[in-house]
Amino acid sequence: MSSCNGAASTRKRQRLSEDEAVTDGAQFAGRVGLVTGAASGLGRSVATGLAASGARLVLMDRDADGLKDTAMHCPGAMVVAGDVSRGADMERAADALDALGPVSLLVTAAGILGPTVPLADVTEEAWDRLFAVNVKGTWLALKHVLPRMIAGSGGAVVTLASGAGLAGNATFPAYSASKGAVVLMTRSVAASHTAQGIRANCVCPGPIETPMLRETFASAGDCAADREVFFRARNPMGRFGTPEEVRAAVLFLLGDAASYINGVALPVDGGRLA
Ligand SMILES: NC(=O)c1ccc[n+]([C@@H]2O[C@H](COP(=O)([O-])OP(=O)(O)OC[C@H]3O[C@@H](n4cnc5c(N)ncnc54)[C@H](O)[C@@H]3O)[C@@H](O)[C@H]2O)c1
Repeated sequence: MSSCNGAASTRKRQRLSEDEAVTDGAQFAGRVGLVTGAASGLGRSVATGLAASGARLVLMDRDADGLKDTAMHCPGAMVVAGDVSRGADMERAADALDALGPVSLLVTAAGILGPTVPLADVTEEAWDRLFAVNVKGTWLALKHVLPRMIAGSGGAVVTLASGAGLAGNATFPAYSASKGAVVLMTRSVAASHTAQGIRANCVCPGPIETPMLRETFASAGDCAADREVFFRARNPMGRFGTPEEVRAAVLFLLGDAASYINGVALPVDGGRLA
């Protein structure tokens, strides 16, 4: 067998299929939590995985129709349509949690890509919106959910940052800056609240097949196909990740198997940052 074929068969084994990705029985039975960004992509995948493992969830997103679709696969879930960057909307989502019982899970997946231009070309308006959603939206979720976890028996937080939050990025530098803030916000939660029963970790995906990845390529206009080839080629696995592969990492970090893992920023990127 040629070395090329050997590499291809290795790649095949490395891919987690949708069938085998979910779930560990009732791992999260009786646990209550909030998932933001639940209408699409990674948030939807995490929400359905948690629900299939027994969690009772509040699902939040600005996309009301997408939320309804996700909720159809999350038995007993409540939906709150709203903007994560607005305190009043986040408060509504947190209040909805109170109807389900003591809160012990938080996943913040709502996020936007923002402008894919050099920093000097980013408009003030686009910068403010990017940081309002990615940074303030994560903070608001923590602000409203952490006190509830602390008042109960503690809990586990997973924020969705990005590989672009761990290294500089020339394609979307403003996004990179916003995700760097998410990484250190998450680690600061671990540094501050562990004694109160909170574990907080961050998942840092590389390019994952979701609508946001398609937006990343589309933003290159006529060069969209070239950008996709470039992103694929610079990944050691030569492919993009799947939502199921990110979900597996998020559920692991939320679960009891990760009981001594706290304050990490875990790349899920096929080795892109290796
Ligand atoms: N897909 C990737 O390649 C990738 C890589 C690294 C990090 N991420 C991060 O993972 C998270 C999920 O991304 P995705 O790929 O699933 O993207 P996506 O676009 O498929 O989903 C993002 C969701 O967030 C919601 N959202 C956006 N702004 C909102 C707001 N202001 N209020 C409420 N909801 C809002 C959207 O409606 C959407 O449902 C994001 O934080 C993203 O930055 C994604």
